[in-house]
Amino acid sequence: MSLLHWEDRYSVGVAAVDHEHRELIELINRLYAEATTQGSRDAIVDFFGDLFKAISSHFALEERLMRERGYDQLTQHKNDHERLLDELRDIMEDFEANERIDEKMLAGRLDAWFSRHFESHDARLHSALGDH
Ligand SMILES: [Fe+2]
Ligand SMILES: [Fe+2]
Repeated sequence: MSLLHWEDRYSVGVAAVDHEHRELIELINRLYAEATTQGSRDAIVDFFGDLFKAISSHFALEERLMRERGYDQLTQHKNDHERLLDELRDIMEDFEANERIDEKMLAGRLDAWFSRHFESHDARLHSALGDH
């Protein structure tokens, strides 16, 4: 079962960025599938590490772009990235402590975050940079 679903309204209008966003959603779905089936604890912890790295490097790329181009909402955008990384850390710590993933937390928090972030911050960023 997939946890998160891509929707057309998430599109920021740049194919390469949409592609990366879809990949992040896919990684979260794979993590969830691993965690709710027979996946071993170590495999899931490793997977969390990979997911965290993939998301951090996507954010780092956007933040570099914003700095290079003097983007006016760098701080707000970066704060929202940090909020997501904090949520992921919470979910990861919760898993390490309880060896289970709270499906509602993962679905509710991450889905809400991703959809809102893609539709607002990322869409604004890419339209401001005019890279269509
Ligand atoms: Fe993004
Ligand atoms: Fe972003």
